[in-house]
Amino acid sequence: MKQALQQISTPIATQIDAFQQAYQAALQSNNALLQQMVTHVNQSLGKQMRPMLVLLCAQLCGGITPATIHAAVSVELLHVASLIHDDVVDESDQRRGKPSLWASFQSKAAVLGGDFYLSAALSEAVKSQQLTIINGIANMGKKLVDGELLQLSGSKNAIYNQAYYFKVIEAKTAELFKTCAQLGALSAQHSSKQLVEKAVQMGLAIGICFQLKDDVFDYQQGEHIGKPVGNDVQEGKMTLPLLYVYEQASESEKATIKQAFDNKDVAYIQQLVSEKGGIDYTLEQINLYKQKALQYLQDFEDSPTRKAIEQFILLVAEREK
Ligand code: FPP
Ligand code: MG
Repeated sequence: MKQALQQISTPIATQIDAFQQAYQAALQSNNALLQQMVTHVNQSLGKQMRPMLVLLCAQLCGGITPATIHAAVSVELLHVASLIHDDVVDESDQRRGKPSLWASFQSKAAVLGGDFYLSAALSEAVKSQQLTIINGIANMGKKLVDGELLQLSGSKNAIYNQAYYFKVIEAKTAELFKTCAQLGALSAQHSSKQLVEKAVQMGLAIGICFQLKDDVFDYQQGEHIGKPVGNDVQEGKMTLPLLYVYEQASESEKATIKQAFDNKDVAYIQQLVSEKGGIDYTLEQINLYKQKALQYLQDFEDSPTRKAIEQFILLVAEREK
């Protein structure tokens, strides 16, 4: 994983350093509690795949500019803000293998900490001095809320089906990857409308791949992904591996599954999903979206950056964590 990430980042190594510096600069404040929270979040920075995609797409579309760095910092800040708030909403005590901000600082401070990251994201977008980038970030925030609320109302009603599930993951995850690709392309030196559109489609496919993989992890025992296995069922989230099995089931089987799901019977659900092909089906879907993303990438001229993005797509689809 580390090696793959290193390979991917080779064409943008200098700009990643510039990104890291600007990211930390954006998090400066004089408030002691905020400083503690930022230090806590900084202890597990994650893979930072989204800013990497911004930089790679800018490079692919003609060249990284100062606006690209601001866009990369802004998307990462927005992403972290959404995770901080998500852990409050989900009452989730772990994030990236460490106690979440919600667990360590409680709801009130964690919500405000997330607000700070969100505001920092907007300030950073403004520094790009490109209205399309500011607009992209602002719209992205709205889209994330839309996805979370769709998920919330979906889990409370019996309206959950594959079409609904894909709508949710598009809004809560894929749109962010789409925005990364879009902002990267928009900020690039010699970009064109056509290139931006191709990057957008590719970003969307990568994002769907990413969330499908995340949802498979929740059913895979023994993985060290920094989150407990079976978490989604515990949180009342019916994701594709289970949804597929549920949709295939007879009416009486459906009732049994529903009851096990409502009772949070993780062991039963996990065994069922694995036996009835829910994991295999999801892996097939991952492969499909991976192929889609690779196809869009083929429309760009061959270059070391294109090869790096190809590796990026393979990593998203085949990662172990
Ligand atoms: C993780 O999903 C969460 C998201 C992808 C988005 C969360 C968005 C919000 C809370 C609303 C918008 C917030 C801002 C600041 C604009 P998950 O719970 O399925 O995954 P997890 O297992 O990583 O928690
Ligand atoms: Mg969550």
